[in-house]
Amino acid sequence: MKKLLLIFITFLITGFVAWDYLALPVSRDWSPTEVALIHSLSLSALPPLLADSSNSVSDNEQAVELGHQLFFDTRMSGSGKVSCATCHQPDLMFTDGIALAVGNGIGTRNTPSLAGISYSPWFYWDGRKDSQWAQALAPIEAGHEHNFSRVQVAQLIANDSSYKTQYETLFGALADVNGVPSSATPLGTPDQQTQWSSLTTESQTDISRLFSNVGKVLAAYQRQLMPGASRFDAYAQSLAADTDAGSHPSSVLNGTEIAGLRLFIDKGQCVSCHNGPLFTNHEFHNTGILSVAGQLPSMGRYDGIRTAQQDPFNCLGEFSDASSAQCSELRFARTANDLVGAHKTPTLRNASLTAPYMHGGQIASLRGVLQHYNLAPVSMLSHNEAKPLGLRTVELRQLEAFLLTLTAPLATPAKWLQAL
Ligand code: HEC
Ligand code: HEC
Repeated sequence: MKKLLLIFITFLITGFVAWDYLALPVSRDWSPTEVALIHSLSLSALPPLLADSSNSVSDNEQAVELGHQLFFDTRMSGSGKVSCATCHQPDLMFTDGIALAVGNGIGTRNTPSLAGISYSPWFYWDGRKDSQWAQALAPIEAGHEHNFSRVQVAQLIANDSSYKTQYETLFGALADVNGVPSSATPLGTPDQQTQWSSLTTESQTDISRLFSNVGKVLAAYQRQLMPGASRFDAYAQSLAADTDAGSHPSSVLNGTEIAGLRLFIDKGQCVSCHNGPLFTNHEFHNTGILSVAGQLPSMGRYDGIRTAQQDPFNCLGEFSDASSAQCSELRFARTANDLVGAHKTPTLRNASLTAPYMHGGQIASLRGVLQHYNLAPVSMLSHNEAKPLGLRTVELRQLEAFLLTLTAPLATPAKWLQAL
């Protein structure tokens, strides 16, 4: 009797395990609504990048050139060793492969990819910057990143004849920073702030304007960093080309990848946040990610929007080239309580190259990310918007296989992907 029970239990367990790994036949047929949804995710649906009205040189070729040089220039740091590319490395889709970024010191956040980021209305995981040029200013003066100051930026440009000529062609005569203490900045240590306060208002404004112009050329350069068409895009195109969506002949993706795509847009609910050609809705969500060891849980967008509203370099500020009517994104941004713990939905294009994942690099692998969504743990702050999925192991593998079809070299010309 005992033996029978044992056999029965073994049979049950084997059954469960087998079921977990069993790939059921998946339909390769899509309804017209699904075909339209798949098309909306493909790069061919990506609209042209609109000029940034707060940045008058956003599409200026000379600004792109100068921004390119500055992006890779390690002289723009206190130690002479850190450039934007230290953390945003072209080979890793402009990320760095580590959980928490390291510049002059260790930071508190994971480095996001920059490919296609210019389409985002908000920058940083918590959206505390409302333009790409205003974002570029922050790492330069952050002690753990470039550990530099805006006065030192002005001096770097004044003392390099090529930079000086390029700058003056774009923006006119360079501000005079002779005799200004080099570490003066309104941010930084109390000592640096005192030095800053000792300057005249006019001199402060000139220096901050020069600094904001440097942010504007860095933004112009980064607008060139665009994702390239992947196998998924080829598949979406082949579906669209097929007038009878019910019986397409496409073999661009294999059965496992197609099953993953179906889960992505259906049972997995991924597409509710990761949508559009960049696989992001550009919004902020709480997905119950554990806080980074040794850190308080991140308030996310709840704090981020408040910081953006107070930022002197925001769209409404004196260094912006936009009229206040053009700043509707900032003026009408939501500030509600449900933004507590919410972070920006990142792109999923090239995710295979940008591990580790999440705002603090908390999850090491794509498989780990999928396991996280499958369980959808309770959030430490506020509530997790994602619901447990209860997918089987084989389904998680299918989803992962689909995510890998989003990898492709950037569409950006090679000359922009390396230092001069
Ligand atoms: C020490 C590493 C480091 C350096 C140096 C660095 N970054 Fe970053 N970058 C990061 C990290 C980490 C984040 C995310 C921080 C956050 O969200 O709080 C980030 C965020 C960004 C973002 C926003 C991306 C998004 O998803 O919203 C842009 C754009 C960017 N950096 C550009 C630059 C530029 C331009 C420079 C040079 C002026 C630069 N970075 C220097 C690590 C770095
Ligand atoms: C409720 C909105 C939402 C849903 C649903 C959602 N995501 Fe996310 N996703 C996010 C946000 C927000 C982040 C960043 C969270 C953070 O860092 O705190 C993220 C991060 C990720 C990352 C890490 C990317 C990186 O560069 O760090 C991957 C991969 C990912 N999601 C895949 C998926 C998949 C696959 C699904 C479906 C099973 C899914 N997501 C469902 C909003 C969502």
